[in-house]
Amino acid sequence: MNKQLRKAVIAGNWKMNKTPAEAAALIDEMKPLVKDADCDVVICVPYVDLQTALEKTAGTNIKVGAENCHWAKSGAFTGEVSAEMLTSMGVNYVVIGHSERRTYFGDTDQTVKDRVRAALDAGMTVILCVGEYEQQRLQGVTFEVVGSQTKIALGGVSKEELSRIIIAYEPVWAIGTGLTATPEQANEVNSFIRKTIEDLYDKEAADAFVVQYGGSMNAKNAEELLAKPDIDGGLIGGASLKAADFAQIVKAASK
Ligand code: PGA
Repeated sequence: MNKQLRKAVIAGNWKMNKTPAEAAALIDEMKPLVKDADCDVVICVPYVDLQTALEKTAGTNIKVGAENCHWAKSGAFTGEVSAEMLTSMGVNYVVIGHSERRTYFGDTDQTVKDRVRAALDAGMTVILCVGEYEQQRLQGVTFEVVGSQTKIALGGVSKEELSRIIIAYEPVWAIGTGLTATPEQANEVNSFIRKTIEDLYDKEAADAFVVQYGGSMNAKNAEELLAKPDIDGGLIGGASLKAADFAQIVKAASK
């Protein structure tokens, strides 16, 4: 983190976990533990938990996000949810392009770009996920993959809109596996993403831009990862489902 230039963002990605009742209990447990955070705190939760999350976090420093949104405003898209539907509830953050969406649900660089566009048009802040598969890292094409995912998703995004985008670098081989990228590996790619932003926009935009790391970030390794200059926060899966662990990561980002 470079606190002079950027405010860290710690975001939980609950994935397909927690019923509304379980969500309420987890948020109640989490609230007092993160209330003094000196970073932004976001929880991205399943659609069915959004209303509960909004009610439970009202008046607190915890912001609520969804885990995806569709690119169209409305229409014949069974099972999908639009960005306007989310903002109409008061949900202003959304994760887009998570590797699980890309791997299991057919999201492509193009649909990710379209979803980013829809979310920005609706006034939302986007947590855009990019990252390479293990095979791609082994073949030495990490920068090509992450660079093209970033450039395609940001196609048509103005410099003003960029302030509503966060990129989460999530090496797919590190997600849910317990295998974390080393702080050096993570920082190297995060700094490459920042350089890509500088090339696309300018240095001012790149300096202000938040790049998170995600992939088995936990209460134990967060401090070391967040100490790196280009790691401006985290997108946390497994550890965001435990209030104490999530709070510990928020604490590490608040130092
Ligand atoms: P993990 O998930 O922390 O469980 O590895 C991170 C993510 O997929 O966002």
